[in-house]
Amino acid sequence: MKSTIVIYYSNNGSNKYLATKIARDMGYDIEKISPRIKAQLLLMMGMSFGIKKLKADLKEYERVILCGPIWMGKFIAPLKSFVNNYNNDIKELIFVSCCGSSYKMKDKKFGHGLVFKEIEGLLNGKCSQCEAFPVTLVLPDDKKEIPDTVMKTRLSDDNFKGEIIDRYNEFVKGLA
Ligand SMILES: Cc1cc2nc3c(=O)[nH]c(=O)nc-3n(C[C@H](O)[C@H](O)[C@H](O)COP(=O)(O)O)c2cc1C
Repeated sequence: MKSTIVIYYSNNGSNKYLATKIARDMGYDIEKISPRIKAQLLLMMGMSFGIKKLKADLKEYERVILCGPIWMGKFIAPLKSFVNNYNNDIKELIFVSCCGSSYKMKDKKFGHGLVFKEIEGLLNGKCSQCEAFPVTLVLPDDKKEIPDTVMKTRLSDDNFKGEIIDRYNEFVKGLA
């Protein structure tokens, strides 16, 4: 039995960055979710066309780390398709999101807290942890509440510093 695989979906690259970093730092396998139809706008509106079959056999892994964004306060269609298709093969799931909503806003309409509750419900006891890495963590205090800046910010080696590194290190320590 293998330990962990990271499965991710990313449109603008921040969740790809985070997923790749976790996999590389921890020596885990990694695979991306590819929607059957690449119609980004329709996906963002919540329309689901399903996802392509994964190459990995998730039954071989003790744990899946699922990584992806939040749009409009929703558990997004490609990630939901993944859970629906592979729920029976998953033994334990950790959800990680680089999202726009800060910790302060997590329980508001577009906050990550509501999405975390939905995932926990779908996984029926198999979701052991949900962790948010809001992009606001890499912004200076005077930019954290400017929606346009938050939406345009992407994680990269250049800005993955300070508070986000501390939270990330704490997170990966818990995985080991
Ligand atoms: C159309 C759209 C809607 C979004 N809605 C939310 C939201 O409701 N809550 C949130 O926390 N972040 C929201 N975000 C921010 C994304 O989750 C964030 O930018 C994320 O890092 C993008 O991930 P990616 O670069 O991997 O695609 C939204 C972004 C877009 C483009």
